[in-house]
Amino acid sequence: MTQSIFKDNIFDGKVALVTGGATGIGAEMAFQLASHGAQVIIASRKADKIAAAAAGLSKLTGQTVEGRECNIRDRETVKNTVSDIVDQWGKIDILINNGGGQFMSPAEHIRSKGWDAVIETNLTGTWNLTKQVAIQSMLKNGGSIINITMLTGRGFPGMTHSVAARAGVEAMTKTLAIEWAQKNIRINSIQPGIIASSGMRNYPHGVAIAEQTRPEIPMKRLGTCQEVAQLALFLSSDAAQYVTGQVWAIDGGRSLWGKQWPLPNPKQMEPVVIPSWPWEQTDEDN
Ligand code: ADE
Repeated sequence: MTQSIFKDNIFDGKVALVTGGATGIGAEMAFQLASHGAQVIIASRKADKIAAAAAGLSKLTGQTVEGRECNIRDRETVKNTVSDIVDQWGKIDILINNGGGQFMSPAEHIRSKGWDAVIETNLTGTWNLTKQVAIQSMLKNGGSIINITMLTGRGFPGMTHSVAARAGVEAMTKTLAIEWAQKNIRINSIQPGIIASSGMRNYPHGVAIAEQTRPEIPMKRLGTCQEVAQLALFLSSDAAQYVTGQVWAIDGGRSLWGKQWPLPNPKQMEPVVIPSWPWEQTDEDN
């Protein structure tokens, strides 16, 4: 098992649903939750990937990790997925909204279809799961919801659609944390920085882009899926009982420093002119 600061059995008796749980950060969170005693259900849009991941995670953890095919954009499927889980295990204690997707494109080349797909998956899909899990389980039994977003604080050039959706999820996180605080539902967001995960391979030249970005990260390295999962474990656990409505960056300092996007300089820069009032004229101005 991954080196962990948590006790093996901290999630005994807990039921956790992880969307986008077949690959990358999602699979690692599923692995760690199951390794610490949770009954984990992973959901993904792709049936073959989910079956292979559920079998692999079950073998690795010695727990039965269940796989469910679920398109988070399809409200009826989401409703049925949640009701099947609640019928079988009685509740959902932990929901990790990790399923999502996007593509890199200069803003002016994003077509309507692409924009709608990213918003429907990353914003509305997260809402679909959150609402169903709340009304079918957490408003009665409490629970912890974790939304996986991205570094939104400085914008995200090349991903206008996704950063707009993720910022929406973060606003939803804060809003629901207040509305549901007295229902014993905590809801937090995690913003992974540049993480060495299989997700990087979804972008053309993703690995090369990660290499180029590395010098712009104060820690000069990529994060790992294990590091992100450890934060998710803490936020899922009772150790975080008083933590809600927060957005947690895990990024080696990336959100604070470094170039994001190459902005070309004009061929010739205008000289710097600092204006002054007539009564401030200095000898230099004459
Ligand atoms: N990952 C990317 N798109 C998804 C979708 N529509 N449903 C579930 N997981 C996804």
